[in-house]
This record gives sequence, C-alpha cells and structure tokens, in this order.
Amino acid sequence: MPCLHLALYDDFAWFYNRYWNEEFHGLAFPILERIWLPRVLRHGRILDVCCGTGHLAGLLTARGFRVTGIDASAEMIALARQNVPTAAFHVADASEFKVLGKFDGAVSTFDSLNHILTEDALQAAFQRTAAALKGGAPFAFDMLLESAYHTNWADAFSLVRDDHVLVLSGTGFDPRTRLAQCRITMFRLLDGVWKRSDVVVHERCYTTGEIDTALSLAGFEETACYDARDLGMSGQLGQGRTFVVTTRKRSR
Ligand SMILES: C[S@@+](CC[C@H](N)C(=O)[O-])C[C@H]1O[C@@H](n2cnc3c(N)ncnc32)[C@H](O)[C@@H]1O
Repeated sequence: MPCLHLALYDDFAWFYNRYWNEEFHGLAFPILERIWLPRVLRHGRILDVCCGTGHLAGLLTARGFRVTGIDASAEMIALARQNVPTAAFHVADASEFKVLGKFDGAVSTFDSLNHILTEDALQAAFQRTAAALKGGAPFAFDMLLESAYHTNWADAFSLVRDDHVLVLSGTGFDPRTRLAQCRITMFRLLDGVWKRSDVVVHERCYTTGEIDTALSLAGFEETACYDARDLGMSGQLGQGRTFVVTTRKRSR
C-alpha cells in the first residue's frame, strides 16, 4: 500500500544513505549483537520494521540471516533494494503492514518508532510486528525518551559540498503534545541545476510506561529496557536513547 502521507524521507533518502547509516550502526550493531541477535534462530528470517536504506539488513544478510524490510518511503526502499539485492523490501506503513509467513526475529532501529505520532498507531505497529513473529521470537528496537528531546536532539548541523548542501535544525520539543520537530533543507546539483527540497521530520516522545503497555497489549512479554549509554553508545546518539528487547508471547 503506498504511504503518500508518510513519504517524508523520500527527498531525504539520498543524503540519509550517504551520511546517516554508518555512524549509527557502527555503534548500534554491536549492541544488537549482544542483546538480541544471539536469541534469533541461526540463519532465520528477520523482519526490519522501518528499514530505511537497508544498512542493517545488509549487516544481517552478511551473517546469514534472511531479511525482509518494510518502510513507508519508496525512495528509501529503492535504495535498500540497490544496497542489499538479496533481501526483500516492501513499501508499507509500520502500523498497517502484512507480510507472508512467520519470522524468527524483528528489529527497528534509529528511533524509527518515534516517527509514529500517536499511541494508537504505535500499538498498531507493535500488533503488526507481533502478528509477523513466531511465538518466543525476540523483537529489539531503540527509541528516544524525553531527555533526548530536551538536550541536543537535532542540534543545528550543516554540510556543504561542491554538489550538495544540507542544513538541519531542531525547532523544539512541545511537552504538551510531546512532539518534536526537525527541519531539513537540502540542495543538490543535478544536470547543472540546483534542486532544493525541504523536509520537516516530526517525532513523538513516549514514556517507558506507554511503550511497555503498548507492547503487552500487542502480545509481547518479558520486556527489558537498557539505557544506550550503559551499552556503550556514547555521545549525542546515546543521549536519552533506550534499547528495548521483548518476546512474542507463545500461544498456550
Ligand atoms: C531515522 S530513519 C531509520 C532507518 C533505519 N531503521 C536505520 O536504522 O537506518 C527512520 C525511517 O522510518 C521510516 N518511517 C517513518 N514512519 C514510518 C511508518 N509509519 N511506517 C514505516 N516506516 C516509517 C522512514 O521512512 C525512515 O526510513
């Protein structure tokens, strides 16, 4: 199903693919290798929810796992297909997707689930993920908690190259709506013409209580949360970030 209202990463996909993947996964993948991956069946099927341009899918595929990724952005998915031709990728909304067969593990990284802006939609995303998993399969994800939005989330950042320019600035967190936003302006020189794109990325801050309740209602149990800094993710990326590992309930 096309997600026209969610395709905000479409214009950003090229920059994301070039600059955003490696730094985060250089820190996050060793964490996933400690807290989640040993629990996934060897060479099993993994579902990557909000998979972006497939960097994580590539790391998992290289270790023998069979990966299916879903993402709302057609441009992110197009790059994921180029990056990891042996994985399967689908354009789909995390709160509405259906995939064939059952998976041995699921994952969602880089505060992707904070992009889901209502509690109902977050719970629906957990329900869709639970429906795709075998009983007992582990699901790991990271989300930003409130302290991340109060500190240096989306600090001003700019990048100037001969043929592309990016300017990013956080425009604040509203504690009443629990929404944060970040404005990104990009220019790319294509066939001799500068093309401008503007994107506003919204994120919603959830409490650990809200996340835990939504997981329980969706059919997960044995949920554990870890502070990213305790797992070795230092610097701004680890600030206010929690890694969650939970388990799809077995049918009794
Ligand atoms: C910060 S990127 C992270 C991408 C990838 N997980 C990674 O670790 O590099 C957030 C991703 O979530 C996707 N996304 C946001 N809202 C979504 C939704 N409701 N359903 C599916 N994907 C969504 C965006 O298109 C984007 O690719």
